[in-house]
Amino acid sequence: MDIIVRENYEEMSEYAAGVIGRFVRNKPYCVLGLATGSTPIGTYRRLIKMHREGLDFSKVVAFNLDEYIGVGINLDVPYEVDQSYARFMHEELFSHINVKKENIHIPDGLTKDPAGFCSWYEEEIKRAGGIDLQLVGIGGDGHWGFNEPGSSLASRTSIQALSPQTLSDNYESFYKKAGVERDKMPHFAITMGIGTILDSKNILMIASGVNKADVVAKCIEGPVTSQITSSAIQLYAGGVTVALDKAAASKLQNLQHYIHIERLKEEYGMG
Ligand code: PGA
Repeated sequence: MDIIVRENYEEMSEYAAGVIGRFVRNKPYCVLGLATGSTPIGTYRRLIKMHREGLDFSKVVAFNLDEYIGVGINLDVPYEVDQSYARFMHEELFSHINVKKENIHIPDGLTKDPAGFCSWYEEEIKRAGGIDLQLVGIGGDGHWGFNEPGSSLASRTSIQALSPQTLSDNYESFYKKAGVERDKMPHFAITMGIGTILDSKNILMIASGVNKADVVAKCIEGPVTSQITSSAIQLYAGGVTVALDKAAASKLQNLQHYIHIERLKEEYGMG
């Protein structure tokens, strides 16, 4: 696991965008797994800038981690009203880069057959050749996607009920600003499973801010447990990079060791 610590959110975002940008440049036909939330916004802004400077997304295939059940993209209403993750991706990234519409996959929150959709989504990922690089944030409850505490670490794309903490975090970050009453926000979601995420060939996890410090430490250094579903990162066999700002890294016991490893890798040209 490469744990990269940067001074602040901006530098962490710069680093994460650099990883994704290099990946797309080296493998134009890559399959990217993408995430929503407040954390990736800075990364996406930098990817948009890189696209304006020539980075080509025309051959990229994208799969998003998750979507609320009961919402779907509606570009006819303002952002504040449509809180779908499809809308978020459109506003924050897709409409600013040249990824082809037919190559974008986001779980359909309005499907009449959520269980059937979940199986189809898994098949689509396989048909695309699997995810080459999956970007993930980490929830306050330790989740990846909407794999809430108690979800199996082998889970596939499925329907999940949002935990009280996720409801509260997402209400504060998104729904409150939109003027939506708390009990009106969606309580269920379709999410890639932890098993689905672990099948990706590479994982890039990002986290920022002191509010994430405890859960980041649990994820990376605590026991592997379904109570912190992102702790499955410790069982992951592919290439994994964790990009943190100083605040999110502040509760890591072995922080100095991780910083030392990064310096050594730079010194020996292994970064
Ligand atoms: P956040 O969400 O980026 O808004 O903190 C992360 C997540 O829930 O995965």
